[in-house]
Amino acid sequence: QVIRRADYRPPDWWVKTVALEFDLDLSATKVSATLEIERNGEHDRPLRLDCDGVLPLTLTIDGMAANWRHEGDQIAIDISAPTATVHLTTTIAPDTNTQLMGLFASNGMLCTQCEAEGFRRIIPFVDRPDNMAVYEVLLRADKTRFPVLLANGALVDSGDLEDGRHYARWHDPHPKPSYLFALVAGDLVATRDHFTTRSGAPVDLAIYVRAGDEGRTAHAMQALKASMAWDERVYGLEYDLPVFNIVAVSDFNMGAMENKGLNIFNSRYILADPDTATDYDYDAIEGVVAHEYFHNWSGNRVTCRDWFQLSLKEGFTVYRDQCFSADMGSEAVKRIEDVRMLRATQFPEDAGPLAHPIRPDSYMEISNFYTSTIYNKGAEVIRMMATMAGPERFRAGSDLYFQRHDGEAATCEQFVRAMEDGAGLDLGQFRHWYEQAGTPQVQARLEHDADSATATLHLRQRFSPTPGQPDKPLMPIPLRTALIDRDMKAHRGEQLVMLAQAEQSVTFTGFARPPVLSINRGFSAPVTMDVARRSGDLLFLVRHDDDPFARYEALQQLVIDRLIADIGEEGAASERAAGLEDIVSVFGDLVSDQRLDDSMRTEILSLPTEAFLGEQMLIVRPEAIHSARRALRKAIGTRLLDQWRIVHERASAVHYSLSREARGARKIKSLALGYIASSEAPDAGKIAFAQFASADNMTDRQGAMMVLASMAGDERESALDSFYNRYQGNALVIDKWFSLQTSSAHPKVYEQTLELIQHKDFTLTNPNRVRALYWPFVSNQAEFHHASGRGYRLLTDLVLRLDPVNPQTTARFIAPLGRWRRFDEARAAMMRGCLEQILAQPGLSKDTTEQVMKSLE
Ligand code: ARG
Ligand code: ZN
Repeated sequence: QVIRRADYRPPDWWVKTVALEFDLDLSATKVSATLEIERNGEHDRPLRLDCDGVLPLTLTIDGMAANWRHEGDQIAIDISAPTATVHLTTTIAPDTNTQLMGLFASNGMLCTQCEAEGFRRIIPFVDRPDNMAVYEVLLRADKTRFPVLLANGALVDSGDLEDGRHYARWHDPHPKPSYLFALVAGDLVATRDHFTTRSGAPVDLAIYVRAGDEGRTAHAMQALKASMAWDERVYGLEYDLPVFNIVAVSDFNMGAMENKGLNIFNSRYILADPDTATDYDYDAIEGVVAHEYFHNWSGNRVTCRDWFQLSLKEGFTVYRDQCFSADMGSEAVKRIEDVRMLRATQFPEDAGPLAHPIRPDSYMEISNFYTSTIYNKGAEVIRMMATMAGPERFRAGSDLYFQRHDGEAATCEQFVRAMEDGAGLDLGQFRHWYEQAGTPQVQARLEHDADSATATLHLRQRFSPTPGQPDKPLMPIPLRTALIDRDMKAHRGEQLVMLAQAEQSVTFTGFARPPVLSINRGFSAPVTMDVARRSGDLLFLVRHDDDPFARYEALQQLVIDRLIADIGEEGAASERAAGLEDIVSVFGDLVSDQRLDDSMRTEILSLPTEAFLGEQMLIVRPEAIHSARRALRKAIGTRLLDQWRIVHERASAVHYSLSREARGARKIKSLALGYIASSEAPDAGKIAFAQFASADNMTDRQGAMMVLASMAGDERESALDSFYNRYQGNALVIDKWFSLQTSSAHPKVYEQTLELIQHKDFTLTNPNRVRALYWPFVSNQAEFHHASGRGYRLLTDLVLRLDPVNPQTTARFIAPLGRWRRFDEARAAMMRGCLEQILAQPGLSKDTTEQVMKSLE
């Protein structure tokens, strides 16, 4: 059953206020709901309530027992008055809710996840984001098992009841859609802090965790306060309730959830201390805490009219959290990380059977649309508007958006209109970015004319067809561009070139010699670039471009061209490929380039992943990619071995702290260690083990462990054992222990993965654990695409076992099999066979069915 954007109609009835009472219990929670409803316009259609597994046990309308009937996934109730009070009761069993949608149990606590359609698993309701209501929630529970009772908004009353029970009443004055409803009950401890808004309003902050975890919340709290201050400073947006609560839970499908005043987080995005979390984890926590906090405006105060508008809140909020993280750390490194992520997940999605526009036209299961396209490409689309407008005008556009739509359920179109009116942009043609899927391809060529001393930039845009969209309109593509003088090694200023036509040329004057083209600087547009270059130009850019992203990009391209040539692919890339000598020598220069900080140095000197290299080929050849990349790593490791040793020693002398320098040192340390290992130097295992054994923080420990996990020898086993024993009982670190093994390049990784599936700590009911084991294996291109098909079978087996437990998490594992068109016939046939086997499974969930069907089409 397909839902279409074009079919949007407002609901027939509005629910205006909701009073909920919960008698909380792990196996039988009783819910009683009183809804004030109002007919929307003149009609005689019944009240229709969405249900998923719950039906009313009792139902009254204005105090009179009422009848209801099934209509598909809804129940219908005839009501004659224009307004009415609906009262209904249900009972639910949180402890059997393995889907983790609605009200569920996690380690003896109770919590909710209602986005997108989880509220209808608690009570029958007008469960759609355009129905905004005011909620009052009364929670009752056993006081010893559930001493903490939380819901949205502010606590208005609490106290003891008979039989060791107690209650808490919460009220949220802000009208909200049901997907933002939340409650938590459990035995939790809070870390507390305060924030005062710019207008002087005090806010009590609390992060609730299980006893024993309270020492790991400081970084999240710090991030929360920084986010609150940042949103005031950069967007002029203040928090709007007297309390802001965060709860960490260990069983969670996604990263976190922005419920009004009560954010619920996957514990991996809250808990951190130096001994258990890497620097990367620290950054992820900062980013997700900010993301959820920023949703308070971009998502909650202004929400989405329907789920087709999901990118309205997600794309904008990701853009906001990216800018925040850039401000907190290094703008250049953050941009590189975000683009790498976009290319690793969104570009393949956009090139495959699951491609969809950032504002989709249809879906079967909305949970499948929490995608990299909606989130990350959505953020790129907002970023392009910000680039075209400049900071002040972009802010004016965003001010107008919040002013116009505060308290409303809005659309992407309304956002674009606010940007046009507020920022003064003409976004007529730009709207195509919302409508069409697929990554635009841009070709660029610079033509030099010595007589007129001009350089002409010839640009052309092209699109490949995507499912349902064979032909595509032209898009405006903002390209930050600079022409660098070969002698001065500098440019006269950057320009924003708008490529809006199929082909377009721009002429620049004053170039006696041909300049070097630096284009799509900062990755100003989410496109693939094919630049015709003279040999030597990429090397020049690596050495002289003043845009850090462009510098990174130039070296990546240099490496990709070389590897594609080594793999034996024909084409322009291989013809212009720089020789190994040149690549090694530029790496050598960069290892000690004083202009780079260590964090940026690590980014630049990291080789593209095998998966990304596969993306550059028409037909992916996993073995050839694996060995070409390995050989290049070995060459760089061997030829520069002395330098890597020096860097490793220099970085090892830096003491642990969270300063930028110390973090950079840890980053380059493990990169250097990796190259030392790739050189196959006889003492590599010893150096890695020494880093592991002497580490006083998780970044160094995991960095060493990653290198060791791919090596043969006793050091590997002994490090893995000591890692496991040290962290037994700490789920987040044991997740790392699983991932370290399934992501490794060890020749026996397949056999090791099979053993880990049988490990006593592996379970299908915890999404973090499932992802920790399987996701690195599936991303391990050479292993997953093993010619025997065993990798595909391993994944198929997971899908078939996990689907009945947790369909939402299962459906995410279909995309890797859906990429079959990019592989040789033998692999493609096996991948398709697996998809067909999955589809044939009786009772397959809607989530998984949609992804498999689309993958086979
Ligand atoms: N809105 C949440 C966030 O972006 C994600 C919720 C996803 N929920 C889901 N059922 N897929 O932070
Ligand atoms: Zn979000």
